[in-house]
Formats: sequence, C-alpha cells, structure tokens
Amino acid sequence: MARDPRYDILFEPIQIGPVTAPNRFYQVPHCTGMGHRNPQTLAAMREVKAEGGWGVVCTEYCSIHPSSDDDPYPAAALWDEGDVRAQALMVDKVHRHGALAGAELWYSGAFSSNLYSREESLGPWSRPAWLNNPVQCRVMDKRDIRDLRRWHAEAAKRAQRAGFDIVYVYATHGYLLSQFLSPANQRSDEYGGSLENRLRLFVELVEETKEAVGDTCAVAVRCSAGGGTLDGAPVIEEHRAMLEAAADLPDLWDLVVDDYSYEMGTSRFVKEAALEEYVSWVKQVTHKPVVTIGRFTSPDTMLRQLKDGIVDLIGAARPSIADPFLPKKIDEGRLEDIRECIGCNICYASDTHGVPIRCTQNPSMGEEWRRGWHPERLPARQSEKRVLVVGGGPAGLEAAVALGRRGYEVTLAEAGKALGGRVTLESNLPGLAEWARVRDWRVAQLNKLPNVEIFLDSQLDADQILEFGADCVALATGARWRTNGLGRWHESAIEISDRATVLTPDDVMAGMRPEGPVVIFDDDHYYMGGVIAEQLRASGLDVTLVTPDGVVSSWTRSTDEQFRIQTRLLELGVRIETSTVLESVRDDSAVLACAYTGKQREIAAGCTVMVTSRAPSDALYHALSGQIEITRVGDCSAPGTIAAAVFAGHRFARDLDREPADVPFLREGSMR
Ligand SMILES: Cc1cc2nc3c(=O)[nH]c(=O)nc-3n(C[C@H](O)[C@H](O)[C@H](O)COP(=O)(O)O)c2cc1C
Ligand code: SF4
Repeated sequence: MARDPRYDILFEPIQIGPVTAPNRFYQVPHCTGMGHRNPQTLAAMREVKAEGGWGVVCTEYCSIHPSSDDDPYPAAALWDEGDVRAQALMVDKVHRHGALAGAELWYSGAFSSNLYSREESLGPWSRPAWLNNPVQCRVMDKRDIRDLRRWHAEAAKRAQRAGFDIVYVYATHGYLLSQFLSPANQRSDEYGGSLENRLRLFVELVEETKEAVGDTCAVAVRCSAGGGTLDGAPVIEEHRAMLEAAADLPDLWDLVVDDYSYEMGTSRFVKEAALEEYVSWVKQVTHKPVVTIGRFTSPDTMLRQLKDGIVDLIGAARPSIADPFLPKKIDEGRLEDIRECIGCNICYASDTHGVPIRCTQNPSMGEEWRRGWHPERLPARQSEKRVLVVGGGPAGLEAAVALGRRGYEVTLAEAGKALGGRVTLESNLPGLAEWARVRDWRVAQLNKLPNVEIFLDSQLDADQILEFGADCVALATGARWRTNGLGRWHESAIEISDRATVLTPDDVMAGMRPEGPVVIFDDDHYYMGGVIAEQLRASGLDVTLVTPDGVVSSWTRSTDEQFRIQTRLLELGVRIETSTVLESVRDDSAVLACAYTGKQREIAAGCTVMVTSRAPSDALYHALSGQIEITRVGDCSAPGTIAAAVFAGHRFARDLDREPADVPFLREGSMR
C-alpha cells in the first residue's frame, strides 16, 4: 500500500548543521545493556532500526573517559581507537540504510562510582555517588576542568573518525553538565554561583565540540526544558535562560524534562506526548531544529506535533524498540501493522540489570546478532507439520503469529471467550489499559494469516488433543496465582483458617470483590501487589499492603516507577507495612511478623489477597508427555513477565524443526 499523503511531512528531509536527515524519525539515545561489551550485538540492533526507516539512529550514553564508567551497567565508550573501531561497526551499518548516526558523549561526574576503572569520579562539588555506593567524587579544580574539556573534544574527534554524523553534548539526566548547571552548584569560582557561571562549562563544551567536529558533524545538545516533576508544575525559568543563552549555538536541541520517571514514564502513569506542555515554548527561542520524545506511536500525534510547530523531528526510544520498522510501516500505509509500545519499561529494566535489552512487544529486540532474529522476517517452515497451540495468552498468540508467518498450518484453541489470556485480564487493572496492545497487535496479525485457525471457548482435555491429531502441540496454558502463601519468603504453605476468605489476583481480576478490611501480602514485588491494592482501595475498601521488602513493588525500581507507585498508594490511603511478613491467616485476622525480629501482631482481615507466586497450569503436559510431541511455552513452563511469555512463544516458533543447541546463541566474549 502507498503512504497516506497526510504523512508526507514526516518523510521530508531536514538539515541539521552540516548534515541532512532523510526524514523526521529520530531514534534518540537509548542504552541497551550491551555498551562496550557487545559492539556487534549493538551494531546489528541499530542497523535494524535504520533499515526500518529511522532517519537518525543514536548510540546510548557513550563514555568519553575511564573516570566516567557506569559498570555494572555497560555504557558505550569512546576512550580510544579500539572504541572507534567498535563504534564504526554501528555507524557503517546505520549508513548502509541511508540514516544518520549520532553519538551521545557522556561524562557522568559526581554520581559514578567507577567500579570498573577504579578512577576517582569528578564533580563540581564533593557529593556521594548514586546507588548508595559509599564513595564521593573529587571536586574538580581548574586542571580537572581543562582535562575534562580536552577529553570531550578528543572523544568528539574519535566519534567523527568512527563516522558519526551527529555528536552530542549531554547536559541532562543528572550527569556532569546538569551538576554544573544546577542551582545547587555554589562553587566560588567562575564555574559556580550565578547562572552565567553555571552555564560556562556547558557553553565551552558546545563551542569546543563544534570546533572539533563542526565541519562534518552536527552538534546536538540534550537538555531539559524543565518540569515533569511529580507535582506536574512546569518549572522552566532557569531552563529558558539556559536555552536563550545558547539558543543558536548547537545544531539541534534534543529536549527532555527534569523528572526521568516522567520523561520515560510507564503507561501506568504517563501517556503519549506527555512532554508537550513542557517543551512547546522552545521553538520560540531558537532557529535550530528541535526534537523531543513522548512515547509516540500514533502517526497522527506525530503529525500534529510537527504541524503545530512544537518539534521538527519525532524523537523515540521505546517506540523504536517495540517496532524498529515503525517509520517504514507509516511509509507503506500499513498503520495497523505498527507494534505499539505498551509503556511497561521492561526494556529499561534490562539496562538496569546490565543485561542485553529485551522488549515485551518485540521479542527479537537484542537478539538480532546473537540469534540472527529479524523483527519482520522469519525463516520459511522446514516441514509440513500441523501445529496445535493450546492457549491464546501472550505466549500462545505470539507462537501462532510467528508459526503462521513461517508458513505452518496452525490451530489456536483458547479455552475462554476472548483472546489475550493474562494480558486481557491485567489490562483491565488501573493504569494498565495499554498492555492490551500485546493482544491487539497479535490478533490483528493473525487475522491476516489464512493458515492459522482460531477457536474460542475450546477447553481441550488430553484425549481431545490426541484426537485432534496435530504433529506437534505448543501448550501455552499460563499459570494461576497460589492461594497458600508459598513464594519467596515462605517455602511451604502457611497456616490458613478454613473460615478465612483468601483471594488471589486471578480472583480479583475475575471480578470478585471482597469484604474489607483487606490485607494484601505482596511477596512478588513487581506491579501486581500494588495494582491490586490500588484497585481495591479505589472501590472503597480499607486496604493494607504487607511486604517483606523495604518498599512497595520493589522490582519496579527497575522500570523506574517504584516511587510513583508508592506515592500513589499512600495518596489513595493504602496502609503500607514494609519489612513485614504474613505469617498465618485466622478467621477474621491476619498474623503479621517483623521480617527482622519475627515479632508478631494481629490485624483485622475480612479478606487476604495472596500475591506471592504462581503455579504453572501444566497438567496437560504431564498427561500427554511421551504420547505426542508437546512443548510447554511461556507461563505454563516458567511463570514470568509478559515479555518472557512473548519471547517463549516466539522462540518456540523460530526453533520448530531446528536442531536444538546447548548454547543457543553467539557470544561476543567467547574466544573463537
Ligand atoms: C531502555 C532505555 C535506555 C535509555 N538510555 C538512555 C541513554 O543512554 N541516554 C539518554 O539520553 N537517554 C536514555 N533513555 C531515555 C530516552 O532517550 C528517552 O528520552 C525516553 O525513553 C523517552 O522517550 P520514549 O518515550 O520515546 O521512550 C533511555 C530510555 C530507555 C527506554
Ligand atoms: S519493553 Fe515495554 S516499554 Fe520498552 S519498548 Fe517494549 S513495550 Fe515499550
């Protein structure tokens, strides 16, 4: 199909300093958990974005010197010529598709602990590092500042030698330049105190980067336009002064906001284009192109941002992760094929764990080099096998789509009246509506595949599966939350009175509404405990959330939403009992114990909700194993995230008719 001419403007080239971007799709810097350790993995992933139509593809934060390392999070690096060669891998692949490549030069400053390099970190004043690491930085003296400026200019030249078209001065996200720009910088020399002084290093770096590379490379600045804080009030005075002072100095402004958990907010808290109110003034103060982000997946929102003069380019990190071919799909008039980001931040969690990136919506993300997976192309089937997929949740749906695309004859049998499984149920919980996109994209794809048949309301037993006569079965029957308290803290069932009401998230999602007061025992630590608390509290119940951890939903630190979750629960009036364990459940009460001392107390509980762990629904596997080729896929094999279920479904489809391998992917570090 042809592109809708309404979207032509998105495909107009634009000049950025000495270079020209072929269109308005700009993959802003985003890390990948690969960094300096996995340059080939990284290059292959960025190439797919360029192939998918992103006109600019940037690196992640790219360290300029060993005194700025972020291990165990592997940032990219441009320390020496070896790094130039590593970065050139990416640049060449990006250029192959006509896109520009951008390098985000990064110097952490005070907050790095430099756990890898063991160099002292440098900052404008002495302050402790992030992550509660017990170190503080060295206060930069004039010589340190001169060194820093030299390192930055030399790294810029290395970026140029690697072939980059855009080089960044990175002035936000709490790193060195933000530390200098901050009103808290009260150094007594010409680099602290007044705004003019605090701006000095920033202006010097922009000017010196232009001097270093400005003949062939554009110089971009990433900085905050203000705001985005929890109270939502735009705070822009200082940011405006800064932007005005340097309005036409860089070749491009890449705008974010102060609060990272808003800039990169999960869909539970932040919706598409949410930065608009904070950045829309910037084009009034500069003649240079402006890019910003906003988890843009709707071509109409992109169009409006351009037409309303808010931006010149559409920036995206997560939308480009969830669908590297988003621009191409708009170009080809295939809007319904866009795999929209659901705003879960699992991608970011991989980075915070220092492992290669993954994505809930896009199972090939991070697997382009090591497994050779492409998001749009799958190998043709290797046999005439007829495949029965049992279960239409995220694993089953993904398996059916990928198998169907490979050309297999597929039957998908879903026990319920609707597809989507846990995704359909969970997307009805507060704030999680966008998670339904996991189902919707797959259902839309299945509807295009004549070789996939779907049967709803089709609960199959073992005999029926055998009778069906498929050559192989993918069992994707999910998992059920346990009622007995077994989880991380309790390795066996806890004592529960027969007269007590005990529910699980499955019951709440099925519409059961308990009598209060409700005690939720969250030993899962991801979103479910908090979101169930929010749901029950919103329906007027008295809710206490009990967790053995020190904070609510502690794993959501990895998705950068823990603070928002705990704030919301407190504001809703949910009582929170941290470092506390549910010991047992009596008729109308719950016995709690301090996680440290074991000291017990009893609180009233009309109902207890167990959010502890899930039991795989794998009975059919055990009944049929040995009689038929059957594989457990997703939660019915190993309960986990939706991302893990989608990945498992995809992997099943990719691996069908392939020889299994003990080490199923390439590794960059292994000696060959
Ligand atoms: C996985 C991930 C890693 C990121 N890493 C960086 C980074 O290295 N440097 C940076 O400036 N911003 C980084 N960001 C922030 C993004 O550039 C972007 O500002 C943010 O994700 C909002 O854009 P989006 O809504 O299009 O995702 C990262 C975001 C994500 C999701
Ligand atoms: S992991 Fe989630 S937030 Fe990240 S890109 Fe994929 S769908 Fe979007």
